[in-house]
Amino acid sequence: MPKGALLFQPSGYPHEIWSNHLRRLLPDLDIRTAEDGARANDIAYCVAWKPKPGALSALKNLAVVFSMGAGVDSIVADPTYPKHVPLSRVVDPTLSQGMTEYVVLNVLYWHRRQHDLTALQNAKKWRQIVTPRAEYIRVGILGFGVLGQAAAFALKPLNYQLSGWSASPKSVEGVRTFHGDAGLQAFLSETDILVCLLPLTPATRGILNARTFASLPTGACVINCARGGHLIEDDMVAALDSNHLRGATLDVFQIEPLPEASPLWTHPKIIVTPHAAAVTDPASFMGHVVRTIQRMDEGLPPENLVDFARGY
Ligand code: NAP
Ligand code: GLV
Repeated sequence: MPKGALLFQPSGYPHEIWSNHLRRLLPDLDIRTAEDGARANDIAYCVAWKPKPGALSALKNLAVVFSMGAGVDSIVADPTYPKHVPLSRVVDPTLSQGMTEYVVLNVLYWHRRQHDLTALQNAKKWRQIVTPRAEYIRVGILGFGVLGQAAAFALKPLNYQLSGWSASPKSVEGVRTFHGDAGLQAFLSETDILVCLLPLTPATRGILNARTFASLPTGACVINCARGGHLIEDDMVAALDSNHLRGATLDVFQIEPLPEASPLWTHPKIIVTPHAAAVTDPASFMGHVVRTIQRMDEGLPPENLVDFARGY
């Protein structure tokens, strides 16, 4: 039996589609939304996405918080988050699949110079662009965790030279691995297409900056599908305008939705997508929520827990 009610925290979010999956899987569960928040003391479970600071600490009998995203930066950054309450994040094959599709699409896009080919078509110019074969292209994945490794696994059969950078050492067949601050320069200097899949923490905020771009070879491309806080947007524009970088795909931004006035929308070397690289699947996510509630009923700990000391 669930120990209490579940609060679907994101306010103004179309929660029915998520709640319907929960009701089907766990009909006895009392499901509340942010709008019914007054009776907060019997809430044991909370599904959260970018909660307002203080919103979770107001729930005094929480047993677990489920982040609707793989990235938990907005929750961890709340100084009032009650750290004795476990925070479980999304680790899900459907999310990995979505991110893998996005990374493969964009690696191929920049490798095969589709940006330039589209510009030629728009100008009605018939000109072949011959690109090197994949085995000559070095794809470096900044943040070599669940999503980074899933993307590498899909890129491997395409023959790219792969490398990954993480906090701790890793050994993955067919991938050159680097770790820690000491490994960053070597990793960057051998990367033609840089994919950012880091969590946003104090250590990684602003990591896509002028110094990082200068360490990449001339003509490198950058794909940021992690968080907007990783990127110093002006530094990227400068690196593109100086022709040091050839192009960039950006899915995430300092301010979301990206303001209409942002120069990133119309920059000729930037592809913008609306934080849509990998979207949590409601059915799959709620399956995880229900399994976790059932595990906790049996006295087992929740899975995919965030380490507050690391921040991810
Ligand atoms: P994860 O499994 O926790 O992987 C994170 C990786 O980053 C790990 O390899 C970790 O190293 C490494 N890392 C963390 N801090 C580091 C540091 N200071 N220096 C070097 N490496 C560091 O996370 P994930 O599930 O792959 O998700 C990654 C991020 O993707 C999320 O945090 C989220 O922001 C983003 N995301 C975006 C979308 C979207 O639609 N745009 C969708 C889903 C997720 P260790 O392995 O050594 O710990
Ligand atoms: C989406 O951005 C996520 O963190 O899952």
